[in-house]
Amino acid sequence: MLETVTRVYDKKASTGILKLRAENVKRVGDLVVLPVLVSGRSAFGAEVFGVDWNDPIPEGVVKQLIKLQDKYAVLIFRQTGLDNARHIAFSRQLGEKLEINPFFYGRENDRVGEPLLFDVGNIELDGSLVKSQSRRWHHSMGNALWHTDSTYHQQRSKYSLLLSHGDAVTGGCYTHFADTRQAYADLRQDMKDELEDLIIEHDLWHSRKLASPIIYSNPTEREKALKPPAYHRLVQVAPDGRKTLYLAAHAKRIVGRSFENSQKLIWQLIDHCTQPKYVFSMEWLSGGDMVWWDNRQSMHRSNPYTESMSARDVRRSTVIDDGPLAFGVEI
Ligand SMILES: [Fe+2]
Repeated sequence: MLETVTRVYDKKASTGILKLRAENVKRVGDLVVLPVLVSGRSAFGAEVFGVDWNDPIPEGVVKQLIKLQDKYAVLIFRQTGLDNARHIAFSRQLGEKLEINPFFYGRENDRVGEPLLFDVGNIELDGSLVKSQSRRWHHSMGNALWHTDSTYHQQRSKYSLLLSHGDAVTGGCYTHFADTRQAYADLRQDMKDELEDLIIEHDLWHSRKLASPIIYSNPTEREKALKPPAYHRLVQVAPDGRKTLYLAAHAKRIVGRSFENSQKLIWQLIDHCTQPKYVFSMEWLSGGDMVWWDNRQSMHRSNPYTESMSARDVRRSTVIDDGPLAFGVEI
Protein backbone atom coordinates (compact mmCIF):
# COMPACT_ATOMS: atom_id res chain seq x y z
CA MET A 1 0.00 0.00 0.00
CA LEU A 2 2.69 2.48 0.94
CA GLU A 3 4.32 2.56 -2.46
CA THR A 4 1.03 3.67 -3.99
CA VAL A 5 1.14 6.91 -2.04
CA THR A 6 4.18 7.99 -3.99
CA ARG A 7 2.25 7.93 -7.27
CA VAL A 8 2.35 11.31 -8.97
CA TYR A 9 -0.89 12.70 -10.36
CA ASP A 10 0.50 15.60 -12.28
CA LYS A 11 2.29 14.47 -15.42
CA LYS A 12 4.09 17.78 -15.73
CA ALA A 13 5.11 18.09 -12.10
CA SER A 14 8.66 17.26 -11.27
CA THR A 15 7.92 18.66 -7.83
CA GLY A 16 5.45 15.89 -7.07
CA ILE A 17 2.96 18.33 -5.59
CA LEU A 18 0.08 16.08 -6.45
CA LYS A 19 1.45 12.98 -4.78
CA LEU A 20 -1.16 10.96 -3.01
CA ARG A 21 -0.57 11.71 0.63
CA ALA A 22 -0.53 8.99 3.25
CA GLU A 23 -2.05 11.29 5.87
CA ASN A 24 -5.18 11.63 3.74
CA VAL A 25 -5.88 7.88 3.71
CA LYS A 26 -9.42 7.02 4.75
CA ARG A 27 -10.96 3.67 5.61
CA VAL A 28 -14.56 2.98 4.66
CA GLY A 29 -15.57 -0.51 5.77
CA ASP A 30 -13.11 -2.82 4.02
CA LEU A 31 -12.17 -0.14 1.49
CA VAL A 32 -9.08 2.06 1.63
CA VAL A 33 -9.47 5.46 -0.03
CA LEU A 34 -6.61 7.72 -1.14
CA PRO A 35 -7.90 11.15 -2.22
CA VAL A 36 -6.01 12.81 -5.07
CA LEU A 37 -6.77 16.57 -4.98
CA VAL A 38 -7.52 17.87 -1.52
CA SER A 39 -8.07 21.54 -0.93
CA GLY A 40 -9.70 22.72 2.26
CA ARG A 41 -13.01 20.89 2.63
CA SER A 42 -13.09 19.91 -1.04
CA ALA A 43 -11.70 16.63 -2.37
CA PHE A 44 -11.63 15.50 -5.99
CA GLY A 45 -10.63 12.06 -7.28
CA ALA A 46 -9.58 9.05 -5.21
CA GLU A 47 -7.88 5.72 -5.63
CA VAL A 48 -9.88 2.98 -3.98
CA PHE A 49 -8.46 -0.34 -2.79
CA GLY A 50 -10.14 -3.37 -1.28
CA VAL A 51 -12.86 -4.22 -3.82
CA ASP A 52 -12.92 -7.95 -4.61
CA TRP A 53 -13.52 -7.90 -8.37
CA ASN A 54 -13.58 -11.71 -8.59
CA ASP A 55 -17.14 -11.96 -7.38
CA PRO A 56 -20.29 -9.97 -8.06
CA ILE A 57 -19.90 -6.85 -5.94
CA PRO A 58 -22.15 -7.09 -2.84
CA GLU A 59 -24.90 -4.44 -2.76
CA GLY A 60 -23.50 -3.00 0.48
CA VAL A 61 -20.15 -2.34 -1.21
CA VAL A 62 -21.88 -0.84 -4.26
CA LYS A 63 -23.67 1.58 -1.93
CA GLN A 64 -20.36 2.52 -0.27
CA LEU A 65 -18.77 3.08 -3.67
CA ILE A 66 -21.64 5.31 -4.87
CA LYS A 67 -21.30 7.36 -1.69
CA LEU A 68 -17.58 7.75 -2.40
CA GLN A 69 -18.36 8.60 -6.03
CA ASP A 70 -20.79 11.35 -4.94
CA LYS A 71 -18.00 12.82 -2.83
CA TYR A 72 -14.94 12.44 -5.07
CA ALA A 73 -16.52 12.41 -8.60
CA VAL A 74 -13.70 10.22 -9.98
CA LEU A 75 -12.73 6.82 -8.55
CA ILE A 76 -9.65 4.89 -9.71
CA PHE A 77 -9.15 1.16 -9.27
CA ARG A 78 -5.89 -0.59 -10.13
CA GLN A 79 -5.44 -4.03 -11.69
CA THR A 80 -9.07 -5.11 -11.36
CA GLY A 81 -8.72 -8.09 -13.70
CA LEU A 82 -12.23 -7.38 -15.02
CA ASP A 83 -13.30 -8.73 -18.40
CA ASN A 84 -16.06 -7.40 -20.66
CA ALA A 85 -18.84 -9.36 -18.96
CA ARG A 86 -17.89 -8.31 -15.42
CA HIS A 87 -17.23 -4.73 -16.55
CA ILE A 88 -20.81 -4.63 -17.87
CA ALA A 89 -22.22 -6.45 -14.84
CA PHE A 90 -20.67 -3.94 -12.42
CA SER A 91 -21.88 -1.01 -14.55
CA ARG A 92 -25.40 -2.43 -14.41
CA GLN A 93 -25.23 -2.35 -10.62
CA LEU A 94 -24.86 1.45 -10.91
CA GLY A 95 -27.90 2.19 -13.05
CA GLU A 96 -30.71 0.48 -14.91
CA LYS A 97 -29.69 1.33 -18.47
CA LEU A 98 -26.34 1.47 -20.24
CA GLU A 99 -25.69 3.41 -23.44
CA ILE A 100 -25.76 1.37 -26.61
CA ASN A 101 -22.88 1.82 -29.04
CA PRO A 102 -24.19 3.29 -32.33
CA PHE A 103 -21.23 1.69 -34.17
CA PHE A 104 -20.62 4.74 -36.38
CA TYR A 105 -18.39 2.70 -38.67
CA GLY A 106 -20.39 -0.56 -38.57
CA ARG A 107 -20.51 -3.26 -35.89
CA GLU A 108 -18.57 -5.55 -38.21
CA ASN A 109 -15.71 -3.00 -38.12
CA ASP A 110 -15.69 -2.72 -34.33
CA ARG A 111 -12.95 -4.75 -32.70
CA VAL A 112 -14.83 -5.27 -29.43
CA GLY A 113 -18.25 -5.68 -31.09
CA GLU A 114 -20.10 -5.53 -27.75
CA PRO A 115 -23.05 -3.10 -27.99
CA LEU A 116 -22.74 -2.06 -24.32
CA LEU A 117 -19.06 -1.10 -24.66
CA PHE A 118 -17.34 1.67 -26.63
CA ASP A 119 -13.91 0.86 -28.01
CA VAL A 120 -11.88 4.03 -27.39
CA GLY A 121 -8.52 2.37 -27.91
CA ASN A 122 -6.22 2.81 -30.87
CA ILE A 123 -6.28 -0.72 -32.29
CA GLU A 124 -7.94 -1.70 -35.58
CA LEU A 125 -9.81 -4.92 -36.32
CA ASP A 126 -6.70 -6.57 -37.76
CA GLY A 127 -4.57 -5.67 -34.71
CA SER A 128 -2.74 -2.80 -36.38
CA LEU A 129 -2.77 0.66 -34.82
CA VAL A 130 -5.33 3.20 -36.01
CA LYS A 131 -4.12 4.78 -39.22
CA SER A 132 -3.00 8.34 -38.90
CA GLN A 133 -5.50 10.69 -40.57
CA SER A 134 -8.24 8.03 -40.85
CA ARG A 135 -11.79 9.18 -39.97
CA ARG A 136 -11.54 7.24 -36.70
CA TRP A 137 -8.26 8.99 -35.88
CA HIS A 138 -9.91 12.35 -36.48
CA HIS A 139 -13.00 11.33 -34.47
CA SER A 140 -10.77 10.55 -31.49
CA MET A 141 -9.20 14.02 -31.63
CA GLY A 142 -12.41 15.44 -30.15
CA ASN A 143 -11.85 13.28 -27.05
CA ALA A 144 -8.68 15.24 -26.38
CA LEU A 145 -10.74 18.42 -25.88
CA TRP A 146 -12.15 18.99 -22.40
CA HIS A 147 -15.58 17.43 -22.32
CA THR A 148 -18.22 15.49 -20.46
CA ASP A 149 -19.53 12.29 -22.03
CA SER A 150 -22.95 12.32 -23.69
CA THR A 151 -24.02 15.90 -22.96
CA TYR A 152 -25.32 15.79 -26.56
CA HIS A 153 -27.96 13.26 -25.50
CA GLN A 154 -31.29 14.63 -24.34
CA GLN A 155 -31.31 11.88 -21.73
CA ARG A 156 -27.76 12.28 -20.60
CA SER A 157 -25.47 9.78 -18.89
CA LYS A 158 -24.30 9.93 -15.32
CA TYR A 159 -21.31 7.59 -15.15
CA SER A 160 -18.54 6.41 -17.46
CA LEU A 161 -16.36 3.41 -16.59
CA LEU A 162 -13.19 3.11 -18.63
CA LEU A 163 -11.28 -0.16 -18.32
CA SER A 164 -7.90 -1.00 -19.80
CA HIS A 165 -6.98 -4.41 -21.14
CA GLY A 166 -3.61 -5.89 -22.05
CA ASP A 167 -0.26 -4.31 -21.39
CA ALA A 168 0.66 -0.87 -20.12
CA VAL A 169 0.93 1.73 -22.85
CA THR A 170 4.06 3.63 -23.69
CA GLY A 171 4.07 7.06 -25.29
CA GLY A 172 2.09 9.00 -22.71
CA CYS A 173 -1.15 7.49 -21.55
CA TYR A 174 -3.12 9.76 -19.26
CA THR A 175 -6.71 10.77 -18.70
CA HIS A 176 -7.13 14.23 -17.23
CA PHE A 177 -9.98 15.29 -14.92
CA ALA A 178 -11.28 18.72 -13.86
CA ASP A 179 -13.37 19.55 -10.79
CA THR A 180 -16.35 21.59 -12.01
CA ARG A 181 -17.87 21.86 -8.51
CA GLN A 182 -14.92 23.66 -6.97
CA ALA A 183 -14.50 25.73 -10.14
CA TYR A 184 -18.12 26.90 -9.84
CA ALA A 185 -17.71 27.66 -6.13
CA ASP A 186 -14.77 29.96 -6.89
CA LEU A 187 -16.63 32.09 -9.47
CA ARG A 188 -17.51 35.67 -8.56
CA GLN A 189 -21.10 36.15 -7.43
CA ASP A 190 -22.00 38.39 -10.40
CA MET A 191 -20.81 35.66 -12.76
CA LYS A 192 -22.84 33.04 -10.86
CA ASP A 193 -25.90 35.27 -11.23
CA GLU A 194 -25.31 35.64 -14.98
CA LEU A 195 -24.95 31.88 -15.47
CA GLU A 196 -27.76 30.68 -13.22
CA ASP A 197 -30.53 30.23 -15.81
CA LEU A 198 -28.54 29.64 -19.00
CA ILE A 199 -29.39 26.72 -21.25
CA ILE A 200 -26.77 25.18 -23.52
CA GLU A 201 -27.15 23.42 -26.85
CA HIS A 202 -24.76 20.46 -26.99
CA ASP A 203 -23.80 18.93 -30.33
CA LEU A 204 -21.29 16.08 -30.79
CA TRP A 205 -20.47 17.33 -34.30
CA HIS A 206 -19.51 20.73 -32.92
CA SER A 207 -16.67 19.23 -30.85
CA ARG A 208 -15.60 16.98 -33.74
CA LYS A 209 -15.40 20.05 -35.97
CA LEU A 210 -13.45 22.04 -33.35
CA ALA A 211 -10.88 19.25 -33.06
CA SER A 212 -10.73 18.34 -36.73
CA PRO A 213 -12.17 21.13 -38.89
CA ILE A 214 -11.24 19.64 -42.25
CA ILE A 215 -12.70 16.17 -41.78
CA TYR A 216 -15.72 17.20 -39.69
CA SER A 217 -16.74 20.48 -41.31
CA ASN A 218 -19.50 18.41 -42.87
CA PRO A 219 -20.50 15.35 -40.86
CA THR A 220 -22.26 12.66 -42.90
CA GLU A 221 -26.07 12.45 -42.93
CA ARG A 222 -25.82 9.15 -41.03
CA GLU A 223 -23.59 10.73 -38.37
CA LYS A 224 -25.94 13.71 -37.96
CA ALA A 225 -29.03 11.51 -37.77
CA LEU A 226 -27.41 9.31 -35.10
CA LYS A 227 -26.54 12.29 -32.87
CA PRO A 228 -28.83 15.34 -33.04
CA PRO A 229 -28.20 18.17 -30.49
CA ALA A 230 -29.57 18.28 -26.93
CA TYR A 231 -30.31 21.01 -24.37
CA HIS A 232 -29.23 21.16 -20.73
CA ARG A 233 -28.94 23.72 -17.96
CA LEU A 234 -25.42 25.09 -17.47
CA VAL A 235 -25.63 25.37 -13.68
CA GLN A 236 -26.72 22.18 -11.98
CA VAL A 237 -26.71 20.58 -8.56
CA ALA A 238 -24.18 17.79 -8.00
CA PRO A 239 -25.10 14.65 -6.03
CA ASP A 240 -23.43 16.07 -2.90
CA GLY A 241 -25.67 19.16 -3.06
CA ARG A 242 -23.04 21.60 -4.32
CA LYS A 243 -23.64 23.57 -7.50
CA THR A 244 -21.60 22.63 -10.53
CA LEU A 245 -21.10 23.56 -14.18
CA TYR A 246 -22.35 21.13 -16.83
CA LEU A 247 -19.96 21.92 -19.64
CA ALA A 248 -18.17 20.25 -22.53
CA ALA A 249 -16.47 20.94 -25.82
CA HIS A 250 -19.79 19.74 -27.26
CA ALA A 251 -21.35 22.99 -25.96
CA LYS A 252 -22.18 24.89 -29.11
CA ARG A 253 -24.58 27.67 -28.26
CA ILE A 254 -26.21 29.38 -25.33
CA VAL A 255 -29.91 29.59 -26.04
CA GLY A 256 -30.79 33.21 -26.93
CA ARG A 257 -27.21 34.29 -27.69
CA SER A 258 -25.21 34.45 -30.91
CA PHE A 259 -22.81 31.62 -31.77
CA GLU A 260 -19.79 33.91 -31.32
CA ASN A 261 -20.89 35.23 -27.92
CA SER A 262 -21.83 31.73 -26.81
CA GLN A 263 -18.45 30.28 -27.73
CA LYS A 264 -16.62 33.13 -26.00
CA LEU A 265 -18.37 32.51 -22.68
CA ILE A 266 -18.32 28.71 -22.99
CA TRP A 267 -14.55 28.62 -23.51
CA GLN A 268 -13.94 31.25 -20.84
CA LEU A 269 -15.71 28.88 -18.44
CA ILE A 270 -13.94 25.75 -19.70
CA ASP A 271 -10.59 27.55 -19.29
CA HIS A 272 -11.62 28.55 -15.77
CA CYS A 273 -12.59 24.97 -14.83
CA THR A 274 -9.39 23.47 -16.22
CA GLN A 275 -6.84 25.60 -14.40
CA PRO A 276 -4.15 23.39 -12.84
CA LYS A 277 -5.61 23.87 -9.33
CA TYR A 278 -8.76 21.98 -10.39
CA VAL A 279 -7.09 19.28 -12.50
CA PHE A 280 -5.29 15.98 -11.97
CA SER A 281 -3.91 13.53 -14.52
CA MET A 282 -4.43 9.82 -14.06
CA GLU A 283 -1.70 7.67 -15.53
CA TRP A 284 -2.69 4.29 -16.93
CA LEU A 285 -0.18 1.96 -15.29
CA SER A 286 -1.31 -1.58 -16.09
CA GLY A 287 -3.95 -3.70 -17.75
CA GLY A 288 -7.07 -3.94 -15.60
CA ASP A 289 -6.83 -0.35 -14.36
CA MET A 290 -10.26 1.22 -14.35
CA VAL A 291 -11.51 4.76 -13.79
CA TRP A 292 -15.15 5.47 -13.02
CA TRP A 293 -16.19 9.12 -13.23
CA ASP A 294 -19.36 11.12 -12.71
CA ASN A 295 -20.20 13.14 -15.83
CA ARG A 296 -22.58 15.33 -13.83
CA GLN A 297 -19.79 16.90 -11.77
CA SER A 298 -16.50 16.75 -13.67
CA MET A 299 -14.91 17.20 -17.07
CA HIS A 300 -12.20 15.07 -18.63
CA ARG A 301 -10.02 14.67 -21.69
CA SER A 302 -7.70 12.05 -23.10
CA ASN A 303 -4.33 12.45 -24.71
CA PRO A 304 -4.68 12.53 -28.50
CA TYR A 305 -3.49 9.52 -30.48
CA THR A 306 0.10 9.89 -31.57
CA GLU A 307 2.22 7.94 -34.02
CA SER A 308 4.59 6.96 -31.20
CA MET A 309 1.89 5.56 -28.89
CA SER A 310 1.87 1.80 -28.43
CA ALA A 311 -1.33 -0.28 -28.56
CA ARG A 312 -3.93 1.02 -26.15
CA ASP A 313 -6.93 -1.22 -25.50
CA VAL A 314 -9.48 0.72 -23.46
CA ARG A 315 -13.21 0.09 -23.39
CA ARG A 316 -15.93 2.25 -21.88
CA SER A 317 -19.35 1.50 -20.50
CA THR A 318 -21.70 4.42 -19.91
CA VAL A 319 -24.53 4.44 -17.38
CA ILE A 320 -27.59 6.48 -18.35
CA ASP A 321 -28.81 9.06 -15.85
CA ASP A 322 -32.14 8.44 -14.19
CA GLY A 323 -32.07 11.43 -11.82
CA PRO A 324 -34.16 14.61 -11.79
CA LEU A 325 -31.93 16.47 -14.31
CA ALA A 326 -31.48 13.50 -16.65
CA PHE A 327 -33.73 14.76 -19.45
CA GLY A 328 -32.37 18.30 -19.68
CA VAL A 329 -34.56 21.09 -20.98
CA GLU A 330 -37.22 21.03 -23.67
CA ILE A 331 -36.77 23.79 -26.25
FE1 LIG B 1 -14.94 11.14 -22.87
